[in-house]
Amino acid sequence: MKRMPRLSAPAAALAALAFSSLASAQGQPPLKVGLMLPYTGTYAALGNMIESGFKLYVQEQGGKLSGREIQYFKVDDESDPSKATDNVNKLIRRDNVDVLVGTVHSGVALAMAKAAKESNTLLIVPNAGADAITGAMCAPNIFRTSFSNWQPGYATGVVAAQKGYKRAMTITWNYAAGNETVKGFTEAFEKGGGKVIKDLTLPFPNVEFQALLTEIAAQKPDVVFAFFAGGGAVKFVKDYDAAGLRKTIPLYGSGFLTDGTLEAQGASAQGLPTTLHYADNLETPRNEAFRKNFALTYKANADVYAVQGYDAAQLLGAGLMAVKGDFKQRDQMLYAMGKTVIGSPRGKFAMSAAHNPVQDFYLREAKGVNNEYRSVAVKQLADPAKGCKLQ
Ligand code: BEZ
Repeated sequence: MKRMPRLSAPAAALAALAFSSLASAQGQPPLKVGLMLPYTGTYAALGNMIESGFKLYVQEQGGKLSGREIQYFKVDDESDPSKATDNVNKLIRRDNVDVLVGTVHSGVALAMAKAAKESNTLLIVPNAGADAITGAMCAPNIFRTSFSNWQPGYATGVVAAQKGYKRAMTITWNYAAGNETVKGFTEAFEKGGGKVIKDLTLPFPNVEFQALLTEIAAQKPDVVFAFFAGGGAVKFVKDYDAAGLRKTIPLYGSGFLTDGTLEAQGASAQGLPTTLHYADNLETPRNEAFRKNFALTYKANADVYAVQGYDAAQLLGAGLMAVKGDFKQRDQMLYAMGKTVIGSPRGKFAMSAAHNPVQDFYLREAKGVNNEYRSVAVKQLADPAKGCKLQ
């Protein structure tokens, strides 16, 4: 009989752990992950980047998380809140998914959070910033790997006030993401000595900006703050430039204004300052390895949405690791997800008690096709999590 090689005590312990991890994951069916994302409409590129980021992390782990194969189910939510409840129920009731991952649009995500709460399905939000998701609606089974809308708005308000601007106008789509981001901006800007003289809005996802740009030109504020993203951000930045406003009134935005959009925005976006929890050129081994692997796999540059999708998979992986792939040990798994520190391409971040990232916000500047790091705008910014009872 062939003898087994002798192992040192620590090596034997590690081998036993790896074996028991594999043993408990073996024989279990694939873990069903329901991706509810926009694959059409103004946020389609964002949804695709989130999916690519998520799948990249799983692929880097050999296609499994803690020994569990991942089976994907997909629904195009079209960024349409009126279809959101029906769409999420396709994943929960029809496909019987174990985990929901989604979405981009705050209004759609609020419906997902409600359905996840009612059905006690694990939900990981890889973008939508609706404050209530990790505020009044917070729950043990709901996590976010992106931001609350308040966070990037607040960070930009800090930067604009520090620059010495006194009179600001804001412009955005009239829905949760736009309104809450503007609220965060206003809070920090006015705390820093400025005054928001007027808020301009248009319905999502309209891109008829002309009348609003005329009003900005007439009011002549010191600075304009904008929240737009995806296809709408491309059009807004080009229109702002074409109206001649860039030369006279500085434009600031939360980073979505220029993230994943620089190629399409061309010269109109060059030099634009924005704040976000990610910058393309962060010189850390983690970010550089991530961007390299992303580019090799997808022949495209990663952006913040890809990072958030990647981190959603990392968070799920951390939970599964704690229970050796045994998804039925829910409480232990959720506890581990709340306590983990994610080694993100953006930098390490921990979860708040409400399950929202506590993270640095960077001031960036658009250069070529990158949003380049300039400085830390606010360190370790935590969302106030108003109304959350998990704390
Ligand atoms: C949102 O709806 O929450 C959102 C959409 C795109 C970028 C950022 C936030």
